[in-house]
Amino acid sequence: MDKDPFILDLLAFVGSSPTPFHAVASMQTRFLDNGFASLDERHEWDLRAGGRYIVTRNGSSLIAIIVGRHAVTANGMRIVGAHTDSPCLKVKPSANITRSPYLQLGVEVYGGALLNPWFDRDLSLAGRVTYRNSAGKIVSANIDFREPIAVIPSLAIHLDRDANKNRSINSEQHVSPVVLIRGDAEIDFLDLVKRQLLDEHPECAAKSVLSYELSLYDTQAPAIVGANRDFITGARFDNLLSCYCGASALLDAGDDVSCVLVCNDHEEVGSASACGAQGPFLKSVLERITANPEALTRALDRSFMVSADNAHAAHPNYTDKHDAQHRPVLNGGPAIKINANQRYATNSQTAAVFQDLCIQAGVPVQTFVSRSDLACGTTIGPIIASEIGINTVDVGVPQWAMHSIRETAGQADSHYLYLALREFFRLQALPF
Ligand code: CO
Repeated sequence: MDKDPFILDLLAFVGSSPTPFHAVASMQTRFLDNGFASLDERHEWDLRAGGRYIVTRNGSSLIAIIVGRHAVTANGMRIVGAHTDSPCLKVKPSANITRSPYLQLGVEVYGGALLNPWFDRDLSLAGRVTYRNSAGKIVSANIDFREPIAVIPSLAIHLDRDANKNRSINSEQHVSPVVLIRGDAEIDFLDLVKRQLLDEHPECAAKSVLSYELSLYDTQAPAIVGANRDFITGARFDNLLSCYCGASALLDAGDDVSCVLVCNDHEEVGSASACGAQGPFLKSVLERITANPEALTRALDRSFMVSADNAHAAHPNYTDKHDAQHRPVLNGGPAIKINANQRYATNSQTAAVFQDLCIQAGVPVQTFVSRSDLACGTTIGPIIASEIGINTVDVGVPQWAMHSIRETAGQADSHYLYLALREFFRLQALPF
C-alpha cells in the first residue's frame, strides 16, 4: 500500500479500535474480506499448503496464518508479534459512585497508564458486555458508546497552588469520571450499559447484563499534525500501530514460506493469561501447523520472530533521558531494541537480519538502548522467545508520550515498519 492511503487507513483503524475486542474484530473483518478463512480452536483443523486462516481467542487476541508451500522443517516460519491492549481506565463491577447530585464511575487503572493526560478529556466507553438474552442464553457482544459520555475534571489551580510543582494523583480518589447529574429517575450505570447494548444490537434480546469489561477512551480522533505534517497523534499507538503494520504486511505476503501474525492481549499487565503471550495460544497454533512435536522443534530452529512494539523516541525537552549514542528520532525508521539483560530478545544475529531487511526494503533503521541507570521496558519478544525458543528481534516505531491518552509518532515510521515487515514475510531462509 502507498504511504498516504496507508496512514489514513492506519489512523481510521486506531480510531475505531478503542479496546482490544474492537481491534481484533476489525482485523478479523479485514482478513476475512481478503480471503482468509476463520478457524475455531474447538474444531479439528484441515490446514492446506497455500491456505490463509485466522483464529481468535477471548475475542481480544488474534493469530493469522499463511501455510507455506515449502515444508516448515525446511524453511521455518516467519512470525510477527504485537499486542492489542493499551493502558487505560477500566470500569469496576459495582461501578456506581453517587456523590450527590452526580453519578460517577469507579475505575481501576489497567497497565502503566500515564494518568495526568486523562483529565479534562471528552471520554467515551467501550468493551465487551456479557448478558442473558430472552431465550435464557448467556451471550457476549462488543459495545462502543462513541459519544463523549464522561469527563474527569482537573482540580482548579486556585484550590491547589502547587499543582504545577507536585500534584500527585491517587488512582482510587482522583480519577473517577463524572457521567451525569442524577434527577428524579434513579438511573444507574447498568441501565446505561443495557440501553447502549440494545441500541447497538437491537436483535440481541438482552434481558439482563451479567458482567462487562468496559474501558474509557478519548473521543478525539487521531490526526496528522505539524507544520509539515511530520507527526501523527492519537491514543493506543502502543501498540495498535504494530498490529496494523503486521496485518498489512501479512495481507501482502506470498505463500512460499509459512507466515504468522500474532496479536496478543494483556501485554501491558505482564502477558500471563489464557490469551496473553505467556499463555499457550501461539504454541498450540504452531503445533497444529507443524504436524508433530519434532517437526515443530526442527521448524523453530529455522524460524524467526519480529516482535514489534513501539520504542521511546528521544524527547527534545528531555534529551538527557536517553543514552546519547542511542536516541531514536521520529521519521528515522523503526528502532531495533537492545538490552543486555534480555528485557528485549534481540541478539547480534537477529539485529543484523532486521537491519538487512530494512536495507532491502529501502527503509532507514535506528537502534534503541535504555540509559544504563534507567529501568528498561519489555515486550512480548522475550516471553515468546523463552516459551518456544525462537530467534527473535525486538523492534518498534519510535514515539513520544508512551502510555499517555494521546501519543505522538512520526508520520513516516509506520509505513517504514510495514515495508520492513513485508520484506520479512518474503525472507526464504535465515543466514544462520
Ligand atoms: Co507496548
